[in-house]
Amino acid sequence: MAGGNAGAAARLFLAALLAVLVAGDDPYRFFTWTVTYGDIYPLGVKQQGILINNQFPGPQIEAVTNDNLIINVHNNLTEPFLLSWSGLQQRRNSFEDGVAGTTCPIPPGANFTYILQAKDQIGTYYYFPSLAFHKAAGGFGGIRVLSRPQIPVPFPPPAADYTVLIGDWYKGNHKDLRNVLDSGKMLGFPDGLLINGRSNGYTFTVQPGKTYRFRITNVGLANSLNIRFQGHTMKLVEVEGSHTMQSTYSSLDVHLGQSYSVLVTADQPGFDYAIVVSTRFTSKIISSTAVMRYANSAGKAPGPLPGGPTIQIDWSLNQARSIRWNLTASGPRPNPQGSYHYGLVPVKRTITLANSAGIINGKQRYAVNRVSYVNPDTPLKLADYYKIPGVFNVGSISDNPSSGGAYLQTSVMGANYRDYVEIVFQNDENEVQSWHIDGYAFWVVGMDGGKWSPASRQGYNLRDGVSRYTVQVYPNSWTAIYMPLDNVGMWNVRSEHWARQYLGQQFYLRVWTPSTSWRDEFPIPKNALLCGRAAGRRTRPL
Ligand SMILES: *[C@@H]1O[C@H](CO)[C@@H](O)[C@H](O)[C@H]1NC(C)=O
Ligand SMILES: *[C@@H]1O[C@H](CO)[C@@H](O)[C@H](O)[C@H]1NC(C)=O
Ligand SMILES: *[C@@H]1O[C@H](CO)[C@@H](O)[C@H](O)[C@H]1NC(C)=O
Repeated sequence: MAGGNAGAAARLFLAALLAVLVAGDDPYRFFTWTVTYGDIYPLGVKQQGILINNQFPGPQIEAVTNDNLIINVHNNLTEPFLLSWSGLQQRRNSFEDGVAGTTCPIPPGANFTYILQAKDQIGTYYYFPSLAFHKAAGGFGGIRVLSRPQIPVPFPPPAADYTVLIGDWYKGNHKDLRNVLDSGKMLGFPDGLLINGRSNGYTFTVQPGKTYRFRITNVGLANSLNIRFQGHTMKLVEVEGSHTMQSTYSSLDVHLGQSYSVLVTADQPGFDYAIVVSTRFTSKIISSTAVMRYANSAGKAPGPLPGGPTIQIDWSLNQARSIRWNLTASGPRPNPQGSYHYGLVPVKRTITLANSAGIINGKQRYAVNRVSYVNPDTPLKLADYYKIPGVFNVGSISDNPSSGGAYLQTSVMGANYRDYVEIVFQNDENEVQSWHIDGYAFWVVGMDGGKWSPASRQGYNLRDGVSRYTVQVYPNSWTAIYMPLDNVGMWNVRSEHWARQYLGQQFYLRVWTPSTSWRDEFPIPKNALLCGRAAGRRTRPL
């Protein structure tokens, strides 16, 4: 009975929270998650993993456009912990974003209830632990946001919808990996690749003749990966919330933090077919396999495993350019995706972001426009909300690269709500990059080798580029995006290469308006944790 009372009290507490923040009509989905350490053996040796409700990878979140997701996270680790929601835009609500710059960590033994909404979104996303290199131990899982029933989806319902979390993996404990980075050294090459937490044998069962959706996300730490299905092709249907022109691929590059949905039809003789994942652009190549097993399988499919591309960059660039938005298909709303003409909106501001590696105080660091980000003692969003001085300065990172060495700084770029910006990612390093922007999706308008210049705009795709939330930048190349700044808040812009992110290749974009209307930004959640110099403040006037 005590449990029942506690449950009732918790529900009351939530109801009080919800009454204030959440739009009344949209359905709620409740999750109670406990985060613990637990033994896992993904590469055959025992490791300390981070489990959610005893699962590695964590449980999947399934939602429909506009659903409210109420996720109570109990931190049973011995370290502070946060989850972040890659691609879920947290509209008007960066407080819930779950990164160090927006949200106080959940202390060991405590719990925190995230109040999220999949507002105006469809597609494939994922969550991950954002602090302290926890991602190297697990704590991640898939998120899928389905279309509302009345909105047409541009392909027939698949026989099943499978999540495929791929990523590179180290045998080391995440604390040891973190210590290596803290000591100023880089990590070596990963020890293996995982598919849904296993280095081989994860099995997807299919019925002959049926078509399946596979939602593929690269949740790894350091490497772009390529995926292919033995004896089958993939029809690409969705990229990070955009319905694409349904082109067929025999293999697909998935860069760090990216998500793709493909349809695969079980139209071959009944066998066990390998799903092969391997590293891209590396001199040493590692790979792993899962199994697509026909229900009438006669055993292992004959023939060799399908080979993939290895270091060819042009191949990957051409594939990236072949991915197009389907202008007539619906996205989250009934009107066609193409009714928003992203290429016709005048650009207000161009921001060029150049990544670099450098040694600062004898330690390996990574930077953007020379600034290597350091976390402040108080989340930026809370410092901003409570007007606590001395935590950060708007304008502490420049709009353009400059020459000179990298330096440490809590870098925050200011931007005006409703401006329309062009961002050029310039990669002068010899390593592929993957960039993510929280709170937003953006249109990829171009990518090419060499240095970007204004003349590069002549080659932009201003018609049917896809809108997505993570984009690759090839070695010694550039990628350009267009982004409407329609979401007020403090938003993390980061490398998805996790050691680079950890060692400073990130900053925050403060999208600001003088308005204090809830139509533009929600007030701080009543249950917000307060820490650093915000400790002891009141979350909201009573
Ligand atoms: C969480 O930790 C507490 C002690 O710190 C323990 O009593 C409890 O059983 C743990 N819960 C789970 C689900 O591991
Ligand atoms: C969760 O945390 C709240 C405080 O934010 C606390 O009142 C509540 O008792 C906690 N619930 C559990 C089950 O630990
Ligand atoms: C684009 O979407 C429409 C639905 O509006 C669909 O009928 C068509 O097949 C799609 N085109 C391609 C090339 O995928």
